[in-house]
Formats: sequence, C-alpha cells, structure tokens
Amino acid sequence: MSYKGRFQVWRGDADGGELAYYEVEVNDGEVVLDVLHRLQATQAPDLAVRWNCKAGKCGSCSAEINGRPRLLCMTRMSVLNPEEVVIVTPMRTFPVIRDLVTDVSFNYEKAREIPSFTPPADLEPGEYRMAQEDVSRSQEFRKCIECFLCQDTCHVVRDHDDHKQSYAGPRFLMRIAELEMHPLDVADRVPAAQDEHGLGLCNITKCCTDVCPEGIKITDNALIPMKERVADRKYDPLVWLGRTITRRRG
Ligand code: SF4
Ligand code: F3S
Ligand code: FES
Repeated sequence: MSYKGRFQVWRGDADGGELAYYEVEVNDGEVVLDVLHRLQATQAPDLAVRWNCKAGKCGSCSAEINGRPRLLCMTRMSVLNPEEVVIVTPMRTFPVIRDLVTDVSFNYEKAREIPSFTPPADLEPGEYRMAQEDVSRSQEFRKCIECFLCQDTCHVVRDHDDHKQSYAGPRFLMRIAELEMHPLDVADRVPAAQDEHGLGLCNITKCCTDVCPEGIKITDNALIPMKERVADRKYDPLVWLGRTITRRRG
C-alpha cells in the first residue's frame, strides 16, 4: 500500500530558514530516510541530509521528527500517523550547516578533553586480565554509535547554550564512567567528572536514555553510579579519612 505523505522539512542554513511543505509518496515498510531520498529524487535535489549506513550503525542521520530526536534511517513511517503532517527538523542543540545537517564538532571537542584509557605502567599489552563481570559492564557503553541524540536532547545544553563550555553531555559523561569502572584504568576520573565536565549539572531527567537508539541505560548505569562515586568521595567520612591518611603518608 502506498499513500501521499505530507511533510514539513526545515530548509535553510546558518543564517536562517523555514519549514517547507512537501507531499511525497510513502510505501509499505519505508523509513523516514527513504522518503527524504524520494523527496531529493523528485522535488528537492539540493536537500542536505547526512547519512551513511541506513542500518542504525553509523550514527550520521540524527535529526528530529515531530520534535523528537531520532535516527532518520530507523524511524519507520508506520509509527507515524499518516493523517498528520510529519515535521522533520535538524538537531536543535547544534549549529545548522544546511537543511537537516548540523555541525556536531562540539562533541568531538568534548571527546578530546577526556584522557584516554590509562593502564598500569608495569603491565605489557597481552598481560591485561579482568573479570568477565567487568567486561560485560562496560560492553553496554561500547554499543554507542555516537549519533549524539542524547547530547541533542539533554536540556542542560539544549536550553542553555552557555553550558556548552562546562558540560560534556551524557555521551561523554558515560565515557568517563566507563573508564572509571574499568578495573585496569588507573586514572582518577572522579574529580574531573564533577569539576571539569559538569556532572553536577545533570539532574537525571533520563531524556538521554529515552532517545538512545542503542537502548543504553545511560542514566541508571553510567551517570547515577558516577554521581554516587562523587558523593562517596565528598561525604563518606571513612573515605575522607582514608584519603587524608594516604595524602599525609604520601
Ligand atoms: Fe547515541 Fe546512545 Fe551513544 Fe548517545 S549513548 S551518542 S544516544 S548511541
Ligand atoms: Fe541530561 Fe540525561 Fe542527565 S538528559 S540531565 S544527561 S539524565
Ligand atoms: Fe547510519 Fe542512520 S544512516 S545510523
């Protein structure tokens, strides 16, 4: 079965733009990206849309559909009401380059600020040993496809551009948590998470978890455990005493 879908697609660039109305054929089994490709082929050859895999694995086709951050290639037309106009807009948190394509370099800058995996100096590659439980725990975070939908939806930067300097966002706070939980990582990640990467600004609204196409439990499994580590460090009297003694001995 096919029908004539009604769409409003944001067209413009860094200087401004507006929603453009299109009617495009929609067929059974199609995803939003299929329809945008048909739109390019038939009516708007200059429509800019970023994509690579069309399989939910490259994280390139992130945009907003009816205001919700989603992958264009993994959103089936069948989940949208055919009676209603479908509104497709670029990710709101990042600057627009053109049409549906945004400049996501904010995320690469944040990635660069996090020191990489730091194993003990006396271990050679090949000597790393860790329990399966620890491997499984970080495995969940490794499923991240870096679509940045969680970064787009988190209100800390979505509604407050001025927080971008001091806030790494859920994807990169999760990266810090992954390294902090790694039994062979010897770097102390807790103070920087709070002081440099803005963990305290996250008020666990879980919107990041809700939009993650990989189903990663970002809030429950990464952000809350990190917050607990910060609180333990700050308020647990035994931890405080232990640190003080160690410092004095050092
Ligand atoms: Fe995308 Fe999920 Fe990774 Fe965030 S954590 S960048 S939503 S895959
Ligand atoms: Fe933002 Fe997720 Fe925290 S949406 S506020 S990082 S729980
Ligand atoms: Fe790769 Fe959508 S095109 S995730």
